[in-house]
Amino acid sequence: MTSPIVTLRLMTEHDLSMLHQWLNRPHIVEWWGGERPSLQAVHEHYLPRVLAQESVVPYIGLLDGMPFAYAQSYVALGSGDGWWPDETDPGVRGIDQFIALPERLGQGLGTQLVRALVSTLFSNPEVTKVQTDPAPHNLRAIRCYENAGFRQVKQIVTPDGPAIYMLHDRPSSPSAASAA
Ligand SMILES: CC(C)(COP(=O)(O)OP(=O)(O)OC[C@H]1O[C@@H](n2cnc3c(N)ncnc32)[C@H](O)[C@@H]1OP(=O)(O)O)[C@@H](O)C(=O)NCCC(=O)NCCS
Repeated sequence: MTSPIVTLRLMTEHDLSMLHQWLNRPHIVEWWGGERPSLQAVHEHYLPRVLAQESVVPYIGLLDGMPFAYAQSYVALGSGDGWWPDETDPGVRGIDQFIALPERLGQGLGTQLVRALVSTLFSNPEVTKVQTDPAPHNLRAIRCYENAGFRQVKQIVTPDGPAIYMLHDRPSSPSAASAA
């Protein structure tokens, strides 16, 4: 059997009803916002042009071409609302992600997804580092990010609560990023 192929594409407004269904699944509610958002709330918050105003880029993860995950990247500097107040480097990007299919958790797909996103971000020469901030008790996410090349830096408190600040440094060559 061949290994599944994980790729990313940009999310569009046509994906929002699918995203709404995903955000209402219990395994996502547990780790993503803590509540079941209405379709209207998802439109108001996740419309790509609304996210762009906050320097957030949304993606859909594809498993052998089929949507199976959501991911987003953001520019850390200037996030506002209490996020990353100490950041001074305009090259730092942050990422958040989830796998929508509960039956596909813990099979290495998150690691593939994060590697693909990190590789995409580092294809921009202006990107210096990629950060992520899982909850301290989200051990599956922390392990996944370590497997994808992140290191734990310190425990922090974000507007969403305690988190582990994790960093992925810029690899010395693009091929190193995809192998990280
Ligand atoms: C976080 C998430 C994206 C990771 O993707 P995934 O495909 O499940 O993760 P992977 O299978 O690639 O890696 C998980 C790793 O954690 C390990 N793991 C699983 N459960 C664990 C636990 N309770 N404690 C410690 N490690 C655990 C796995 O063994 C694996 O490590 P290994 O390959 O070294 O054995 C996915 O689980 C998810 O979407 N979770 C729900 C939403 C979420 O938490 N999003 C992240 C918010 S920061």
